[in-house]
Amino acid sequence: MTWFTVASMRTSRRDLSEALKESTKEVHVEAENTGFMKSFQRGQLSLREFKLYLASLYYIYSALEDESERNKENPVYAPVYFPNELNRKAALEKDLEYFYGSTWKEEIQCHEATQKYVDRIYHVGQYEPELLVAHAYTRYLGDLSGGQILKKIAQKSLHLPSTGEGLSFFSFPGVTNISKFKQLYRARMNSLPMDPATEERILEEAKKSFLLNIEVFQELERLTSQGRISENGHLVQPKTELHTRGNNRIHGPQQSDRTQMTHKDMLPSTPLLRWTLVLFFLAMTIAVGLYAM
Ligand code: HEM
Repeated sequence: MTWFTVASMRTSRRDLSEALKESTKEVHVEAENTGFMKSFQRGQLSLREFKLYLASLYYIYSALEDESERNKENPVYAPVYFPNELNRKAALEKDLEYFYGSTWKEEIQCHEATQKYVDRIYHVGQYEPELLVAHAYTRYLGDLSGGQILKKIAQKSLHLPSTGEGLSFFSFPGVTNISKFKQLYRARMNSLPMDPATEERILEEAKKSFLLNIEVFQELERLTSQGRISENGHLVQPKTELHTRGNNRIHGPQQSDRTQMTHKDMLPSTPLLRWTLVLFFLAMTIAVGLYAM
């Protein structure tokens, strides 16, 4: 059976694009409602959190784009292979260099939940390539949709330059009309050859992909709220690492990074330290007042 005849078997069924949208509706709401995404939407994400988010995305897109390359001629993926329009890895490298400086690759770390997501993408690309479209759909159509809202929020709340530095990830210079491109992408997904069982597996994989994203957000939230993470995204090890690494160093672009730091970034991350500082300043103010009288 040729690819076209298999593809035509789908005409009586609902389109894959509609089915994907429908079956991921609930998990999309769940993703939007994670603490991390809620902070993002409220413009409350710190620079440190944003940098960690970009670092995670770097590993995720490296895997996704490696596997897209591997499958670019495979009929189960080829119709949705759009490297010039969609690829994000190079954009993320640019952003990471902007925030961390030229040594960004040594500064970032792939945490557990991100690694789990990356492992799944590599597994799918190699052993179940017909499911790769589910991962591409979840990330790329998301970036072309809600991602565009998040771009504006990040720019405003983190005081990033209007010229777009640090926000390359959210920009798609290869796509002139986002809405039309999304239509084309959906049409290409609908042209993929598949039987009902494969379609069902793709829908399940898309939900799984959302859940893997949610786990990444939850991990980022945990890592940052527990103050266990240093400015460069590494888990803070006891003493030895604190002495050997320049954890408090501000990585290039030094001046802009410094000015973009939010008040939250400048305060110590543990509540006990914050309160000690506050009490110290209060005591000093009262002492100076008494002395002046
Ligand atoms: C604060 C977070 C988010 C907001 C505000 C947001 C918002 C939106 C909006 C407005 C759309 C367009 C809906 C439409 O055209 O009918 C959309 C679509 C989409 N979003 Fe999100 N989103 C968020 C997070 C996410 C996340 C974390 C993912 C996955 C990792 C994601 C994946 C998608 C996908 C795949 C679509 C395309 C749906 C389709 O047309 O089939 N979104 N999002």
